[in-house]
Amino acid sequence: MGFFSKNVTTWYRVFASLEEAERAIPMNRLVAVEIDTKRLCFARTDKGYFATDEKCPHQGLPISRGGFCEDGTIVCPFHRYAWNLKSGREVEKRENNIQLYPVEIRETGIYIGIEKKVSRLF
Ligand code: FES
Repeated sequence: MGFFSKNVTTWYRVFASLEEAERAIPMNRLVAVEIDTKRLCFARTDKGYFATDEKCPHQGLPISRGGFCEDGTIVCPFHRYAWNLKSGREVEKRENNIQLYPVEIRETGIYIGIEKKVSRLF
């Protein structure tokens, strides 16, 4: 008997179209989305859409409650720490990285990818 383990990305549709997302999220704002038992922030910026954990790495508070985007970062409303939306790093290195999730815009809608480790005995 053997064992294998690999990472598999599952894609979840969060909006049916770009137009729907634009109607729901003002520029440089974000909304909370719940997928696969996770709560994420889904942000609209002039550089595209981004998904992060909703829980702030600083004190675990929900960034979606008043958070916003500014200069390529997502800003937590509670103490104004800011994470780069491409690298996940806090801009002043005061805190751990925020988890980022891939976003894909397809003909059928806007999708967020969640990676999971799948293990099997064979
Ligand atoms: S809880 Fe987010 S910056 Fe403090």
